[in-house]
Amino acid sequence: MKISRQQMLEALVAILGKAAVLQETQDYQRYVSDWSGSRLGTPLAVVRPADTEQVAAVVRFCAAHAIPMVPQGGHTGLVGGALPDHARPELVISLERLNRVRQIDPVGFTIAVDAGCVLEHVKNAAEAADCYFPLALGAQGSCQIGGNIATNAGGVNVLRYGMMREQVLGLEVVLPDGRIWNRMNALRKDNRGYALQQLFIGSEGTLGIVTGAVLKLSPRPQRTLTALLAVATVEDAVQLYTRARRECSDLLSAFELIPRIGMELAFEANRQLPEPLSEPYPFYVLLELAVSGPVDLQDLFDGYLERSMNSGLVLDGTLASSSEQARKLWLIREGMVEGQRLRGEHLRTDISVPISAIAAFVEQASQAVTEVSTRVTILVYGHIGDGNLHFNILPPPELAHGAAIALLLQIEEVIFAVLDRFDGSISAEHGIGRVKQQAYLSRMAPEDVQLLKGLKALFDPLDLMNAGRIIPRQAQTAID
Ligand code: FAD
Ligand code: LAC
Ligand code: ZN
Repeated sequence: MKISRQQMLEALVAILGKAAVLQETQDYQRYVSDWSGSRLGTPLAVVRPADTEQVAAVVRFCAAHAIPMVPQGGHTGLVGGALPDHARPELVISLERLNRVRQIDPVGFTIAVDAGCVLEHVKNAAEAADCYFPLALGAQGSCQIGGNIATNAGGVNVLRYGMMREQVLGLEVVLPDGRIWNRMNALRKDNRGYALQQLFIGSEGTLGIVTGAVLKLSPRPQRTLTALLAVATVEDAVQLYTRARRECSDLLSAFELIPRIGMELAFEANRQLPEPLSEPYPFYVLLELAVSGPVDLQDLFDGYLERSMNSGLVLDGTLASSSEQARKLWLIREGMVEGQRLRGEHLRTDISVPISAIAAFVEQASQAVTEVSTRVTILVYGHIGDGNLHFNILPPPELAHGAAIALLLQIEEVIFAVLDRFDGSISAEHGIGRVKQQAYLSRMAPEDVQLLKGLKALFDPLDLMNAGRIIPRQAQTAID
């Protein structure tokens, strides 16, 4: 039954209490823009339920009155999924008050948490129990476990521990009709039929709201070795990666590519950061080895470094001699991302190709971009060990806003066309949301689209939950 906004607000206040229903623009400002600050939506209101039962009660109410909803975590997602729609106002359901660590089991290496827990808090809680939760990304101080699950987040430790999908054992989800689907089990092995929980991971909130999760933990690394090495080319960085995997007893936990322009962007974002090496180099890799048992990491690394220098792959480098120095090296990696944001509008891509094809892809994509414009800045960085690069483009600073956007869109198509030749992915870790939807759907086989639409209709027949993310709203029949 259709109701007015006023009736909706009164009902939500009755369910949650007045303080948990933000009705005025000035109260919900921070829920309507994302990290980049460039996308804004206008919500029906913002609600802040305190537990799973309250989430379920809100969703049941919305389902009964056909009110569109958008679950929201830390709003650090990079594809515009968590922001309320402009065209069809939605109720924002923030998970931020569901922030309890429910249980830690250091014997079985598991942790059960509310979905609104901030990733960094979960990492700290694991560490306090001498365990380790490996998901690590620049946004970890703000993003939430529910958001990480919804986007199947990646980050810098995937090459060793896998993406979020591989960390999840059990889930608790409020389905789009308000029922609570409870599979909070901590079983390492469970082959009973379809692995339904996997469907929710990476579904970007289109199939339900994650309210709780049981996650795998690892032993806490007792020793970590962090180094920044300079290389001449992307090809050399890839070779160095392969060697590191083979020669460091598979103890590599991160291997990130940073180009010189990325280093300079980091300095722009953080003026305190010193130049790490005595002179600039075309590319750097930031690598980390980590171990929890009695292994001599230094010895392993020294042998690897010596052989790599002798073969001419490594031009120069620095090894962090304290955790503070290691943190400073990681600040370069994080500052590079912040520096791009400070430069304003730019093209952010998130592509993957087979690791062995990285260098060829970078060469061909760079060539293709240069054919469109020689005035843009190409910034290629990222997760070499996952074949996942952020092949980003900064427009010429003098270009007007509209012209810059048009140029970036044209260049994105050119990059994706090269990517198609490599059978690559247009979204390796950020998801589809709204931003990548067209590029995604235009590359899908009809039978994939049918299965996707069928699943969405099964879980959410009224198309109320995150409608228009991943696939278009059902009212629009663009993918029929
Ligand atoms: P939000 O942005 O709030 O939401 C993202 C999507 O999930 C939306 O569609 C939303 O509706 C849905 N959602 C949120 N919570 C729930 C829930 N409880 N149940 C159901 N659906 C939900 N990503 C990477 O993969 N790797 C990186 O290295 C990386 N680095 C980043 C660095 C920076 C500086 C920034 C700003 C972002 C980075 N990201 C990265 C992207 C982002 O941090 C991740 O996508 C993160 O997982 C999003 O979590 P969130 O809580 O902020 O989700
Ligand atoms: C990174 C994010 C943007 O790797 O995915 O920095
Ligand atoms: Zn990334």
